[in-house]
Amino acid sequence: MSDPALPFDRRDGTIWYNGSLRSWADAKLHVMSHGLHYASCVFEGIRAYGGSPYKIREHYERFHESATLLDFSIPYDVPTLEQATRTLLTENSLSEAYIRPVAWRGSEQMAIAADKTTIHVAIIAWNFGDYFGARLKGISLMLSAWRRPSPDSAPCNSKAAGLYTICTLAKHEAQRKGFDDALMLDYRGQIAESTGANIFLVIDGKLHTPKPDCFLDGITRRTIVRLAQEQGIEVVERAVLLEDLERAQEVFLTGTAAEVTRVRTIEANGSSHEFAEDAITQKLAALYDAQARSKTRPKARPKTMSTARA
Ligand SMILES: Cc1ncc(COP(=O)(O)O)c(C=O)c1O
Repeated sequence: MSDPALPFDRRDGTIWYNGSLRSWADAKLHVMSHGLHYASCVFEGIRAYGGSPYKIREHYERFHESATLLDFSIPYDVPTLEQATRTLLTENSLSEAYIRPVAWRGSEQMAIAADKTTIHVAIIAWNFGDYFGARLKGISLMLSAWRRPSPDSAPCNSKAAGLYTICTLAKHEAQRKGFDDALMLDYRGQIAESTGANIFLVIDGKLHTPKPDCFLDGITRRTIVRLAQEQGIEVVERAVLLEDLERAQEVFLTGTAAEVTRVRTIEANGSSHEFAEDAITQKLAALYDAQARSKTRPKARPKTMSTARA
């Protein structure tokens, strides 16, 4: 296993690259790639628990949809990408892992138009643990001035590399000021999400979460909505405003990397909001962990668990 302190391009292992396995050191792309210059690139983030990728089908379906929204098609179907991922986990002897599929336009054209470029695809996997290092203790968020763009300004349902520019800027500012992450509003001034995860507020026993109409409808978000409903917890999808933070007893983030991460404080417009309670967050985090890990032992799944919705 590679030393996690090494830069990502200097690690050991095997990478799936355009249909075959390559050594980590040989998985390169040319500096004249359109994906690099014009952000014609989409990606996914998948986790494996106990060597088994969780919600792999949903992730690869979204990978294809993300590419379609950027006007290109991924030249490998979902079952091929799923099989490639399982092979990669075995080849690299990975159990608790993060998997990063990425697709980008190549170097046949170097201009805005890119219709003649070939599409390249790689899948990379590495050991991975707790994203924030404080998942259940809680993290701090700072309101960013960057806002999620409107659906007529950006392909906001795509997991497109270019959409992450403002996320990196927001996260850097938050970290420089001593926070763990940033909270972002949308173009209307409503609460949207953090830089890489969706958000839920617990108000008087109910979950309140913004409608994903201008940001990623997370696969984890959908799972948490279903798990909460199965527990008889009402979920309200609506426009969530900063004022709602005053009434919230708990706040948490959801995402493949973040899993269910408790939020302890949010600093917004000079006010500090503290969320002292965590009972519902802990309950949903435990249910999520159990479900993600039960996929590694399919026969142990509870009979009551419906798979009709993600
Ligand atoms: C900006 C953003 N929002 C939300 C999410 C959560 O999505 P998911 O639960 O599908 O990982 C992610 C993570 O992929 C993300 O990058």
